[in-house]
Order: sequence, then structure tokens, then C-alpha cells
Amino acid sequence: MKSISTDIIYIGTDDLSIDLFEGQYKVPQGVSYNSYLILDEKTAILDTVDSRKAEEWLAKLETALDGRIPDYLVVHHLEPDHSSVIAAVAEKYPSMTIVAGAKALAMIPQFFENLSREGRTMAMKEGQVLELGKHSLKFVSAPMVHWPEVMVSFDEFDGTLYSADGFGKFGALSECGFYSSEDKDWDSEARRYYCNIVGKYGAPVQALLKKASALPIKRICPLHGPIIDSDFGHYISLYDKWSRYEPETEGVLIAYASMHGGTEAAALKLSEMLREKGVETVEFDLCRCDLSAVLAEAFRYPKIVLAAASYDNYIFTPMYNFIHLLQIKGLCDRKVGLIENGSWAPCAGRLMKEMLGQMKNMEVVEPTVTIRSRMHSSDIDKLAELAQAMA
Ligand code: FEO
Repeated sequence: MKSISTDIIYIGTDDLSIDLFEGQYKVPQGVSYNSYLILDEKTAILDTVDSRKAEEWLAKLETALDGRIPDYLVVHHLEPDHSSVIAAVAEKYPSMTIVAGAKALAMIPQFFENLSREGRTMAMKEGQVLELGKHSLKFVSAPMVHWPEVMVSFDEFDGTLYSADGFGKFGALSECGFYSSEDKDWDSEARRYYCNIVGKYGAPVQALLKKASALPIKRICPLHGPIIDSDFGHYISLYDKWSRYEPETEGVLIAYASMHGGTEAAALKLSEMLREKGVETVEFDLCRCDLSAVLAEAFRYPKIVLAAASYDNYIFTPMYNFIHLLQIKGLCDRKVGLIENGSWAPCAGRLMKEMLGQMKNMEVVEPTVTIRSRMHSSDIDKLAELAQAMA
């Protein structure tokens, strides 16, 4: 347990043994489920944790309370990684009031059928304030950052923004640091977290950033990852870029899905040609790498090359899955070059183009290069043409 100030205690938990976050994301450095306790004239618990850490969290809470009874449980976000212990803590402290937005209160029975809520909930609206004594939490709705019921709160006493999933990051605090100023690489795992978890919801994030810009923020306490204690402009400007789908740097992301090495060779040749022109490139073998990391890179770069084999008269599955991921996360405004391979009926290029055509402002750069089984000397000119057009 760690004190953030004289009357705010961190009671969250690290999870270093989870294999997949949300059932799909690898988290080699684990993840933290952040939770906070404000000890004022009134006591308020801010969110709970995942069921995997229920016992540890309840024990921490009891120690931090030091004999006091919590007056409020504030629920900023009802996703189970933050809400799984609501019923247990409500049962343990029956006089405690559950404070949340109306949508969250309406959803609670979906998760906790038997939780009695009669006379023990308080619905907060935009701008309403929960008075705790010195501390006063002003509620700000943040729908779809990352669920519809999300509210964040701003402590008008000490300038702390409790930002729910916003400004969260993968990585246990023991691995990346308790404060962002101790974190040597906040950006990469925060980017992967943002693009995969919140990436689709750029417009709602923009709306929240607009509201947050009016607040005198002195600290950001997210539900995952380090507490942001300084250099707010850096984090806010990254969030602004990501939620506008604006690239962060120049260069070309080259993603390939190759069955027998022919497509890979063509993709790497194109990468070499681009580098010879002084263009930065990064290459990913979609058959072998973590797609969530490649998605984050696709948010980072303005230009993408997709190279895929044709397969069963369709796009080779790893590439199909990757483009589908780009689609559902709402990536837009990118220039895309295409390489297709097919030994007898190449079709991946046409089909990739169709998928990109369903996205917003994805400009396909010509020519699409067609490889027949292996890259031949006759393909070099077309690859050079594509390299020139991408550069
Ligand atoms: Fe960390 Fe949307 O839950």
C-alpha cells in the first residue's frame, strides 16, 4: 500500500500472473488494477479490482481503513477488471452507499443479480459533486471511454483527475513504476493499451479531452498503470493524437503474411528499397507477432504496406485478421501500398483493397504489386515503382 497524499491511499493490486488481459491481450509485464481510498470526513473507495485479486484487495482496504467504515464506493467504470468486488465489499459494509452514473447503476444487476441496492445508491449526473470534507469529487461523464456508463471524477481540492481507463497502460506498477515520472517507457505500452482497448472511440476521447482541458489538473489517477504526476502535456498530446488517428512519426509500417517465404521476400525487398531512399521502415511478420503490437504501430505511422498471399480464394488468414482489426479499431487516414502473391489465382490484392475501401480515407497507393509464387527479376521494377510512390 502506498500513500499518494496524506489522505489518499493506493489500494490497487498488480497482476503478474494473468495470461491474457480481456481474454486476448498478452501482458508480459502484467497489469495493475488501480483502486484508491480517500480518507476525509467521509471515506470513499474509488473502484474495486478484478476478481483474481479480490482477497488481496479486501485485505488492503481493511488495513487502509484502519477501523473506519467506508461511506461511499465510487464506481467510475463497470467493466469487471474494476468492478468484480462490488458485491463482496457492499456485503461487508452494508451502510456504504454505491455512487455511480445512472447507466452504471442500471447495469449493476447484470453483473450482481443478488446485490441489494435498495436505498444504498446515489446516481451522479454531469457536474454533480460528491462532498467528502476537504475533498469534493465532481463527476464528468465519459461515455465510450471505454464503455457507455463511464464517468470520471475530478477532485476540486487537490486537482486529481480519476480518469477510469483513460491514460491507462499495460504493465504492473512493480514493473513500470508507481508514478509516470519513474516509468522509463510509458508511451509504448500505453499506446498498445489505448489503440486496442479504446482505439475505436476516438470521438468520445476527444470529447473527454475537451472537458478535461477546462480542469486545473495536478495529478491523473487512471485505473491501470502509473499515476501521472508531471509533464501532463506529453500524455495529453499523445492522447490527442491517438484519438484523432494522427500518426506520431514519419515512416512506413510493412506488415506481411507469408506462407512459404515468397511474400515475405517481396515485402522485405520493398522495405530495403524504401530505406535506400532514406525512409524509416518497421517490418512485422503477421504470422508470428502479436497483432495488438502491430495495431499500435499502425496508429503510429502514416503509411502502411500490406503484403499477403492469396489463400482459398481469399486473403491469407493472418492478413485478413489484421485488416479486420484495423477496421474495427477505426483506423483511418493512412496511405496503403499492397503486395499480393498467388501461384495460380492471385486475389489478395483486390480483396485487401475492398476491405480498405470499407474504412475511412484509406488511400491505396498504386501500383499493387503481384508476385507469382516467388519474387522474380521482372517484379523488381514494380516494387521500385511502389517504393517511389510510398516514399
Ligand atoms: Fe480497465 Fe474498460 O476496463
